[in-house]
Amino acid sequence: MTLVIEVLGASLAPEGGPIGLFALAPEGEGTSSVQTGPSAEQVDPGLPAQLDAAECAREGFAAKVGQVLRVSVSPGRRAHVVGLGEPDRLEPDRYRRAAAAFVRSAGQGGEATMIVPSGAPGAALAEGAMLATYRFDPYRSQPPPGPLERLVLVPASPEDEAALRDEVALGVARADAVAFARDLVNTPPSDLDPSEFADRVAERLAGRARTSVEIWDRDRIVSERLGGLLAVARGSSEPPRLVLASYEPASLPEGGAGPHVVLVGKGITFDSGGLSLKTPEGMTTMKTDMSGAAAVMAALSACAELSVGVRVTAIAMVTENMPGPSALKPGDVFRARNGKTIEVLNTDAEGRLVLADGLSLASELEPDAIVDVATLTGAQVVALGRSIGALFGNDPPLTEALREAGRRAGEPLWPMPLPEEYAEHIDSDVADMKNTGRTGEAGSIAAAMLLSRFVGEGPWAHLDIAGPARSAESSGYLTKGGTGFGVRTLLEYLQELSAGR
Ligand code: BES
Ligand code: MN
Ligand code: ZN
Repeated sequence: MTLVIEVLGASLAPEGGPIGLFALAPEGEGTSSVQTGPSAEQVDPGLPAQLDAAECAREGFAAKVGQVLRVSVSPGRRAHVVGLGEPDRLEPDRYRRAAAAFVRSAGQGGEATMIVPSGAPGAALAEGAMLATYRFDPYRSQPPPGPLERLVLVPASPEDEAALRDEVALGVARADAVAFARDLVNTPPSDLDPSEFADRVAERLAGRARTSVEIWDRDRIVSERLGGLLAVARGSSEPPRLVLASYEPASLPEGGAGPHVVLVGKGITFDSGGLSLKTPEGMTTMKTDMSGAAAVMAALSACAELSVGVRVTAIAMVTENMPGPSALKPGDVFRARNGKTIEVLNTDAEGRLVLADGLSLASELEPDAIVDVATLTGAQVVALGRSIGALFGNDPPLTEALREAGRRAGEPLWPMPLPEEYAEHIDSDVADMKNTGRTGEAGSIAAAMLLSRFVGEGPWAHLDIAGPARSAESSGYLTKGGTGFGVRTLLEYLQELSAGR
């Protein structure tokens, strides 16, 4: 069951369930002020405009972001007042987190009403509510009690209704794309092998406006000389796939094709490490290793609904990394699509091998920007933890635009260097380069450095999302398991690019 969000005029507000209100933290010593408007009285005449200082103090409520205070408004009806934090810098992510806190606090099943303050970003509210109620239950015989089922948004001023409706549709489209990525990540690896990944993407893209998809099978991958994808796939009994999806905007600028962005995703549907086998513990979450591929395909799938105004191509490099009898051996050398040779000293550094070919294909399209997304290195988790992604690139305006998009999307990215003096970390004794760096030294940089040799001359950025692709707990708008990290940053970036032209 997916949360249903409706926008209603105040006069139509339904009876049942808690009422969500937002409050700003006091500046200095004052009391938290509740953000309501003319509609509030019609929803329930008992709704407060000002909170009782004594009650706030008693409950320790300071309107911090996502903090909830439950107050009685009329017999049998409660308001859940959710903090938005301080009134300055009211970024969209505060509303996402506040909406998530409300739907979590509104309990299991049933419905709730939320009063949307004038000027609040309706898209972020809808997104936060949808993301927080995401569940993955297809494998449970007895699913646990579900989250809120219906959320009615009431604009604080009736004249905001039409705009709020449009905003909500955008937020829902984005959250739905994230849910698609999360479902792919959460599906057990034997049920989501490369061909199943490709089929599910094709199914999702079918019928979407100005969106098309091609699936390359093993023969096509051989004839396209995708040596890296083939090298990694050798150890698996499942054949690899390449998914190539594209989106064209409804209107193109006079006499030109407009900007073109190519997205590339790492799609290892299960990473055992290959012959350089991982530990049992290290393998438990490795169905997550296709999160980059899921993110780029999910983002592309929402382009039409979000009226993205630039051309987008998404390439997913999809295979298992297994230690089967034909597996790649440490010491093996293969030739990648662009003719460069790579010595494989650790078969567990497989992501960079498949991405090398994906990036070559991307650069051949001569786009205005290439962005790859990958759960690439354990070192990324060590450097930045589970909430922040690592951002690399060769073009400061592009990396800055992505960082800004990540900030607005609530997916923080931190810039990392590609220092020329570390190039020798990937020098090979026998080939053009090797797939490992120096043990314990700048592992994420060594991986990104290898990628940089396959991107050609144009702007390129690389998001290493090994940490944030998966959440160890359900909190805020994340649900334990796959997070869909990257989807909203990519969409935010593409939407911003559309606005800018
Ligand atoms: N998929 C892993 C990276 C990873 C680790 C993602 C932990 C999420 C959580 C990647 O393929 C990998 O195994 N990288 C190795 C590279 C090393 C052998 C050079 C790593 O980071 O340990
Ligand atoms: Mn690996
Ligand atoms: Zn991997």
